[in-house]
Amino acid sequence: MARQVPARLSSDAEVRSLAASSLVKLFDSLYEGAVVVDHAGRITWINDKYKALIGWNGSEAIEGRAIEEVLPNSQLRRVVETGQADLLDVLTIGGRQMVVSRIPLHGEAGNVIGALGVILYDRLQALKPIVSKFQRMQTDLATVRKQLADGRQAKYRFSQFIGASRLAVDTKEQARRAAEREGAVLLLGETGTGKELLAHAIHAASRRGDGPLVSINAAAIPEALLEAELFGVEPGAYTGAGTRSRSGKFTLADGGTLFLDEVGDMPLALQPKLLRVLQEGEVEPVGGNQLRAVNVRVIAATSRDLKAMIEVGTFRADLYYRLNVLPIRLPPLRERREDISILCETLLEQIAEQGGEAPCTLAADGLARLAAYDWPGNVRELRNVLEQAVAQSDNRRLTGADFHMLPVVPIAAAVAPGPVGESALRPVRPLREVVAAAERNEILRALEATGGVKMHAAKLLGISRAQLYEKLGALGVASEDPDTKLIV
Ligand SMILES: Nc1ncnc2c1ncn2[C@@H]1O[C@H](COP(=O)(O)OP(=O)(O)O)[C@@H](O)[C@H]1O
Ligand SMILES: [Mg+2]
Repeated sequence: MARQVPARLSSDAEVRSLAASSLVKLFDSLYEGAVVVDHAGRITWINDKYKALIGWNGSEAIEGRAIEEVLPNSQLRRVVETGQADLLDVLTIGGRQMVVSRIPLHGEAGNVIGALGVILYDRLQALKPIVSKFQRMQTDLATVRKQLADGRQAKYRFSQFIGASRLAVDTKEQARRAAEREGAVLLLGETGTGKELLAHAIHAASRRGDGPLVSINAAAIPEALLEAELFGVEPGAYTGAGTRSRSGKFTLADGGTLFLDEVGDMPLALQPKLLRVLQEGEVEPVGGNQLRAVNVRVIAATSRDLKAMIEVGTFRADLYYRLNVLPIRLPPLRERREDISILCETLLEQIAEQGGEAPCTLAADGLARLAAYDWPGNVRELRNVLEQAVAQSDNRRLTGADFHMLPVVPIAAAVAPGPVGESALRPVRPLREVVAAAERNEILRALEATGGVKMHAAKLLGISRAQLYEKLGALGVASEDPDTKLIV
């Protein structure tokens, strides 16, 4: 089939005039309305559709009138004056909203000689579903953005770290000092001792408090993904990496704090890269060759013995010294049993708040039972046990029996505390002495556990208060003894 050869356009002027007349025809047929004004804002041409739309009856001449006389809201005069086009706008004509476009018309010399206004769409109503969908998406986006920002804020403050014992007060004091400084913080402590809580509190109280707080748990992320999570990925770094770069946690934490939880689980292979960020303040995304400067303070935490790990070669000594600028040890709960009572009060309040009820309280033997336990899971375990007890018990005042889930302290452990094997090395002593020592030891523990409240201590020991007084006298534990902090 023969191809159609377009008619040749012979001159520039011909092209222009053809284009112009074609455009006018197009406007006339395609658009809902079109109007042209001259340099003085007077109507020089208007199509019939437009006339019909504004209800012009046709008896009077419309050409030559000022545009505002016919269309009070018209912006065409401004377009003539500024020479700026409005490619898309909404104009209200006779109470209806229309999508319009305005274009300045230039004369041969390049000066503005008029303007063309067209109605692109006069049924905006029909667009309502799309417009409202767009608005919904905008709202959703704003919500998600806010959630993301909230997720990068501190959840805890220092006031939420509960404890009046010397150990707890010391720890909190160290953390407050760390908040005022800039170096890396290393939080050391068993699980559930409040490392995460303190990391949040330190960030919130620091100069970076308004910046982001981003957390990552090295033990919770598969080794293969950890590098990308921490440092980010460049497009096409590996199969499936996608075509867009993805920010790592260090980049997200820029200007704020990165909480590096379980840093002892950081794979040895990644440790040099982490060290470099700490030393140089630069991250290198996976698959990229560009270094990116970041301003991030690291708060690391671990329940592991990093020094022992250095000995066996699973943790780098140089990284340890970089992280250990401001070390803070979080004491296990069993070293601060006197805090159990006040912790329970707070935790029971929190639990009640979740359930929307008034908080449960603790009976003396309930507290005694809690105070006698060793809490390997620390405050987290205490909270779980209280939650269970509240859920299972009908008592509003929890008794010892409500804590049946706690193991009974074995008698052997109570009588012969100390490391295994100690008794084998120790020479045999008279029974009277051994029993007295064990009694004394256990009484002091009971007093410590109950904050020196003898009535509770006696209950814990399974003896009467009178018997406790008698034994205190016989064992030479005087009330004045500052170490025992006796409250009579
Ligand atoms: N001193 C404390 N006062 C109040 N709540 C605490 C305290 N220490 C820990 N908690 C609570 O115990 C739980 C575990 O604390 P978390 O900070 O996650 O411990 P870790 O990170 O050391 O495992 C959290 O619910 C936390 O709020
Ligand atoms: Mg933790």
